[in-house]
Amino acid sequence: MTPDRRRPPKHGKRAEAGARGAKKNWKPGNMLSPVPVVLVSCGGSRGWKPNLITIAWIGSVCSDPPMLSIAVRPERYSHDIIKTTGEFVVNIPSVDQARTTDWCGVVSGRDVDKFGAAGLTPAPARKVGCPIVVECPLNIECRTRKSLLLGSHTLFLAEVVSVQVNSGLVDTRGRLNLQKAGLIAFAHGHYYALGRHIGHFGFSVRKAGKPKRR
Ligand SMILES: Cc1cc2nc3c(=O)[nH]c(=O)nc-3n(C[C@H](O)[C@H](O)[C@H](O)COP(=O)(O)O)c2cc1C
Repeated sequence: MTPDRRRPPKHGKRAEAGARGAKKNWKPGNMLSPVPVVLVSCGGSRGWKPNLITIAWIGSVCSDPPMLSIAVRPERYSHDIIKTTGEFVVNIPSVDQARTTDWCGVVSGRDVDKFGAAGLTPAPARKVGCPIVVECPLNIECRTRKSLLLGSHTLFLAEVVSVQVNSGLVDTRGRLNLQKAGLIAFAHGHYYALGRHIGHFGFSVRKAGKPKRR
């Protein structure tokens, strides 16, 4: 039976309880949550040594051409590296690298060789001059198209020029199974391993009787 797409799904208990509760007005701030947390590698060309910076303010912004954005404070050592080289790699960490990801976000490349000290392996990227982090399951190579100083942060808008993924995450039919990578979410200052699977794209209008997507 084809479901009536105009009829919205029923709310869960949590949403109903929320609707009954009073709202408080909160001060303006960046409350977007959860967000990904990534290890951005940069440097390795134009006289800069390779460096790593932890970034939570990252987002997909365009699919054709594939583009993403990262927001970096000008006082970060990595800021001028990215600004002058126009290149960086977004390395998606797994839960195994959560502690290292945090550490790369509290020390500066001005003082420490983060690759060496953290025991992370740099390897050449395919299209950009900075290294990828071998231990991370997914490496997204980016070339900056535009940078905008917004206030506290510079927004780097970048094109994805190459993607490398652990072969163990690609099944025999060539499909990417990123859920196997043990991804991390960052919510309100805390790191979480992704939890229970609750649906897939379009599951709210899935035809009754059709087998569930895995
Ligand atoms: C979880 C987490 C998320 C962070 N997100 C950002 C971010 O989005 N933008 C930013 O400029 N700094 C962010 N930081 C802070 C930098 O990673 C940190 O200042 C780092 O030490 C800068 O390294 P660098 O001086 O070698 O560039 C984050 C830190 C942590 C721990």
